Formats: sequence, C-alpha cells, structure tokens
Amino acid sequence: MRPDGGDPIREAARLLAERRNAVALTGAGISVESGIPSFRGSQGMWGKYDPMEYATLHAFMQSPRKVWEMLSEMVSVCGFAAPNAAHAGLSALEKMGVLRAVITQNVDGLHQAAGSHRVIEYHGNLDELICVYCWKRYPTRDRWTPGAVPRCDCGETLKPNVVLFGEPIPWLAQEQAEEEASACGVLLVIGTSAQVSPACDIPRIAKESGAAIIEINPEPTSLTESVTDIHLRGSASEILRLLLKELSPGNDASPSAPPGR
Ligand code: OAD
Repeated sequence: MRPDGGDPIREAARLLAERRNAVALTGAGISVESGIPSFRGSQGMWGKYDPMEYATLHAFMQSPRKVWEMLSEMVSVCGFAAPNAAHAGLSALEKMGVLRAVITQNVDGLHQAAGSHRVIEYHGNLDELICVYCWKRYPTRDRWTPGAVPRCDCGETLKPNVVLFGEPIPWLAQEQAEEEASACGVLLVIGTSAQVSPACDIPRIAKESGAAIIEINPEPTSLTESVTDIHLRGSASEILRLLLKELSPGNDASPSAPPGR
C-alpha cells in the first residue's frame, strides 16, 4: 500500500514536491498532441518510411534525395506545429523549481517554444542544416523549401543536424544527459517507447543513482516492468494537468498550450 493511500498521481506529486530535483526524458509521444506523428505504432513515421531505407547515415550518403522525401515531411510538419499543454506543463514545473532540465529525443524544438530553458537535445534539432563534407551550418529556413533538396555553398546536399541511425549522439548532449540523469531525484519519462539506444539507458542510469522513475505513457513500455516506479497511464497533457493540480491545489487552471512559435 502506498503511503498516500494508493493514488499514483498523488504519490508522484509528493515525490516531485519533496525532492524538487526532477529531470524529464521526453520522446515523440509528448508531441503527438501537437500533430506530430510518433515513430512506432500503426500511425507512426516508421510505418510509412522504413527507417533502414530512410533514416540511416548510410542511406543519406547513398541517396540523399530519397532520404529528403522523409525529411521534408518532418521539417514541414514540425515547422507548423505549436507546443501543447504537456510542453507547457513541463515549462510550468521548471518555473515552480520542481524540474531542472528536459532531455528530449525530439527534434521539433517545442520544449523551448513552450518556455523550458534547460533543454538537452539528444538527437539534435531540425532547425539547422549541416554539410557532412565541409561542416558548414545553416538555419533550415534559409536553405530549405518544400520539395527541394537543400544544398551547401560547396555544392553537396545538406543534412538536418539531427542524429540518423548510424551516427553518434552529440557528445555534449550525451554527457549532459548522463550528468542530469545521475544527479536527479526523480526522472519523468514521458512519451517514449524506450526502444532506441543509448537514450533508453538514461532511465537505468537515473535509477541506479537513486532516482524515482515516473513514467507517463498511455501504454506500458519495456521500462514499465523493469525500472519504472510509478506508471501514470494517460496522455502527457492530461497527466501533467493532474500533477500540476496536485502540486498547487489552489490553482485548478490547466497549463494551456502557449502561443505558436
Ligand atoms: P516512439 O514512436 O517509439 O514512441 C512513442 C511513445 O509515445 C509510445 O510509447 C506511445 O505509447 C507514447 N505516446 C503516444 N501518444 C502519447 C501521448 N499523447 N502522451 C504520452 N505518450 C504518448 O517514439 P520515441 O520513443 O520518441 O530517433 O522514439 C525514439 C527515437 O526513435 C526517436 O527519437 C527517433 C526514432 O527512431 C532517431 O531517429 C534517431
């Protein structure tokens, strides 16, 4: 029996309030309510595009035009998306002094758009393009137009500065993520299936360092039975609304989605 009488939301809120030292690890599920499809599952990107054909560095080097068919869709969808109430909820937790960092696998920039300040982008960001030959970088909006393949001044095809399969995680992001995971008192794992390495190791690192693992996901994942202490089953926006309500009982206002970018 839990000390709070068995209510997992209340227990999660109690841990967040007592430890005031939480970090969030987010995945595609948190942006689903912003209209960005996740990767796995029937409606996911990998149902439409085989990741081995469209999302590896090898595929990009062999056939950049083909890989840009998938990338163009991601850039357009993410470019029009606005943060939702779950992104706003994490920003509110940061303002309350409860959450100190977000580690995200997402490349959509929606945490920053919602006002989160410390965001570690584990898989990069679609806002920037990079030349894998001369390493020159450009803001995506300066070089990309729908349907076209963006080119570097050196003539080569530009790649979004995101991690494709077969590429390493940016070393600074990996180091900072591991530091945050080792030092946090609570890790909120939100909207990730935790199937991609090394991001899926972050919950284990946090757990081994003594953190409580709170998972927010409508479905169970490989973490749920292994490292998760509390599984809050539901959409990210609804669960964060309930947590914020519990953390500030006088304030029943749910975090509304902030204005678009
Ligand atoms: P997935 O598509 O693998 O998983 C999305 C998770 O979000 C699933 O567990 C869903 O149950 C959950 N979910 C769906 N709707 C939700 C909602 N409204 N609220 C909360 N959770 C919800 O996406 P990721 O785990 O983020 O990497 O995928 C990880 C990596 O795999 C991506 O960063 C990408 C991909 O291949 C690269 O491309 C390198």
